[in-house]
Amino acid sequence: MPDTLTSVELRPLVLPTSIDAPDAGDYLEMVRVRNAVYREISGHHDHAIAPDELLPYLPSTPDTERRMWIVLDDGRVVGRIGLDFPLEHESTVAFWLIELLHDAWGRGIGSAAYELVERTARERGRTVLQSWAEHPAAAGPQLSAPTGFGEIPHDHAARFYLRHGYALEQIERNSAFDLQGSFDVVERLLAEAQEAASGYRLVRWSPPTPAEYAPSYGWMKSRMITDAPAAGLDFDEEDWDAARVARHDAIHLDGGRLLQVTAAQHIASGELVAFNELVIGRDRTRATHQEDTLVLKEHRGHRLGLLVKCAALMSWRRVAPDSPRVLTYNAEENRPMLDINEAIGFVPIAYNGAWKKVLT
Ligand SMILES: CC(C)(COP(=O)(O)OP(=O)(O)OC[C@H]1O[C@@H](n2cnc3c(N)ncnc32)[C@H](O)[C@@H]1OP(=O)(O)O)[C@@H](O)C(=O)NCCC(=O)NCCS
Repeated sequence: MPDTLTSVELRPLVLPTSIDAPDAGDYLEMVRVRNAVYREISGHHDHAIAPDELLPYLPSTPDTERRMWIVLDDGRVVGRIGLDFPLEHESTVAFWLIELLHDAWGRGIGSAAYELVERTARERGRTVLQSWAEHPAAAGPQLSAPTGFGEIPHDHAARFYLRHGYALEQIERNSAFDLQGSFDVVERLLAEAQEAASGYRLVRWSPPTPAEYAPSYGWMKSRMITDAPAAGLDFDEEDWDAARVARHDAIHLDGGRLLQVTAAQHIASGELVAFNELVIGRDRTRATHQEDTLVLKEHRGHRLGLLVKCAALMSWRRVAPDSPRVLTYNAEENRPMLDINEAIGFVPIAYNGAWKKVLT
């Protein structure tokens, strides 16, 4: 830690067994600051999550080794640091985040946190470091992604990445769909998609994943990494066996969050070949998050993406009638997916940068 930052402490976060545990204080502060940071950046509260709902996402698993720290200034928690090491065979990558309250910016705290991130990743033998940040729209100079799609302002966070040797690889669009408006378009598009997808039928479930669907759902989850546009980012191939599907189920079940999986089943083979995931916390008046959506490569061209998305939204209107909107994220160069979202009525609300550094 630089001499000028004597009041600052980067403290490893020990996860409590529950939010009521006597040692849960640091964790609860971390969640409070996390939610406040996202609100400061985005201007809305839709990224917030309750402490007991976040907790199941955070422990290390057989798939990912996870380290976290809280950042304290004079004893006050002002931010957090997260560092993930995927545990796929011979992985070289690490994913990290540093999130500080606005009033702590510009004093070198982020750089001290970054030094810890890079040192820890090196010690763990990882050489490809990747990170995402929202860059709120702002006037002035912009940075373009090397994909040729999208740009972000040359803002404080962008300067931070560039100063620490990172390159902008991809822009991700964050879009929102108004769940309180008309569903006429969704209904019409669903009918069109059903007509084009005559060899497929829709299935839907919430965790626990029915045993009959676990293998092909696991296969589709593993294809998210290989079949979605990754620009210059590095991802390991993932193996989603039944145990990993069960761990994914448990995160939602343990936190009381509702996951709805809507999938298209290829009638001839019985395989699931396209899916969409919507998630909401226990408070059903809060925003909904769209997680993975994918059509397996061999089954593209039958409007299955439109089918699973529209069917999911139609069902969601009954599941969470008071949720105001759905948030989703897509690569800005992913035209086929953006076409679907735009047709349904999703509108862009923010842009994220995906940043990468290769250590020498
Ligand atoms: C991006 C982020 C982590 C940077 O943290 P930070 O503490 O502001 O970073 P630093 O203070 O180390 O560096 C920022 C600037 O302050 C300058 N600075 C550092 N120490 C300073 C000091 N003592 N006095 C004055 N300026 C200082 C740096 O030189 C740098 O200047 P630059 O913008 O011209 O490059 C922080 O803004 C943040 O949490 N943003 C929201 C979340 C986010 O976008 N995270 C990105 C990674 S996930």
